[in-house]
Amino acid sequence: MATAPSGTLVQALAEVRDLLLGPDLVRATASGARRGQAPAVLKATLRPVTLKAGDRLQLVTEDGQRPTTVNLAPGDEAAARVDELLAEPFASWVVETGHGSLRLQATKKGAVLHRGAAVAPPAGTGHDRAKEHLIDPGDPLYDVIGGDAAKRRQVDAFLRALAATLPDPEQLPRPLHVVDLGCGNAYLTFAAYRYLSGQGVDVRLTGVDIRPDQRERNTALARRLGWEEHVTFVAGSIADAPVDTADVVLALHACDTATDDALARAITWDARWILAAPCCHKDISRQLRKRPPQGAYAMLTEHGILRERFADVLTDTVRAALLRRHGYAVEVVEFIDSAHTPRNAMIRARRTGAAPAADPDLDSLLDQWHIHPHLATLLTDPS
Ligand SMILES: C[S@@+](CC[C@H](N)C(=O)[O-])C[C@H]1O[C@@H](n2cnc3c(N)ncnc32)[C@H](O)[C@@H]1O
Repeated sequence: MATAPSGTLVQALAEVRDLLLGPDLVRATASGARRGQAPAVLKATLRPVTLKAGDRLQLVTEDGQRPTTVNLAPGDEAAARVDELLAEPFASWVVETGHGSLRLQATKKGAVLHRGAAVAPPAGTGHDRAKEHLIDPGDPLYDVIGGDAAKRRQVDAFLRALAATLPDPEQLPRPLHVVDLGCGNAYLTFAAYRYLSGQGVDVRLTGVDIRPDQRERNTALARRLGWEEHVTFVAGSIADAPVDTADVVLALHACDTATDDALARAITWDARWILAAPCCHKDISRQLRKRPPQGAYAMLTEHGILRERFADVLTDTVRAALLRRHGYAVEVVEFIDSAHTPRNAMIRARRTGAAPAADPDLDSLLDQWHIHPHLATLLTDPS
């Protein structure tokens, strides 16, 4: 039960309130307990986010078991929840805005305030900065799961592509089953759970990786985050890991033919959405080296570097065509600038419900190049 705050504390909290509800908030955290008192949650973090529904104030509370995220509509809803939080006997508030930071420390006599320099670049407000990311690279989630700056950027860009692909949360299956194939350290798996659950999606994430040590590490992290009921991991191969179903399949940099395994598995599950950013493409490049094309086309594969680049294009062209043949609308896009990773293409597919159909152009392409792409060997030919 909170005791009434003294005069200076009331004034200081009023200043914090203005910042929390003001336009320049970057992030604020309330934590700790005043002597002899216990706030309803251990920690509360607020930051502005931009969702499809518009600008929201995102509140993450931690009760020692699991974080809970709610997105508050600006105006009365945000103000009422902020007032409830300010009434909790937290020992400290740290508020970062585009103009500076404010740390409030509750004391026996009232409050001590420390003011610091701006945390956001002068050219942009805190609000702009938060909008640049779906999950800020400084988000506390990364303190738990790790990942360097490049990986955080890739993950955020991947999530943007996911956000642009999925319909509004109310149109999604409940629960939404998302499977991350070749999840590695599961940065994308955890970030996708964080993002989707923050959107109000009832979501279950499964990460699959061939390495049992990854499953152990990632399961321990899920437990630490309190997410173990919603984010689980399986050690096994993409082709036959024991996973029954998927509405959404993700694959970020699954090596060589592992991306083909992921696409084939997604088709087997009848996944409604597939997002795969391929890694290296050795399969077709090897075949072109062994059986070089004849005549004028030989020029395209004569030099190793050009053969590899051409094989990249041929591989993803064939992947897109095979997905189309199996009832998907497909786009191949750049999901992130090539300055951040040379593996920046993404195959993005949405199931249309069309029955699998023959594709004579694809057959002719494979014949002309004498190639047998791994993905084609995994799928039943509908012709
Ligand atoms: C380059 S890492 C990418 C990891 C993660 N998706 C990321 O982007 O951080 C590729 C991962 O796929 C896993 N992998 C490769 N082939 C696999 C297969 N056939 N089945 C399951 N996992 C596989 C590897 O163990 C590795 O962890």
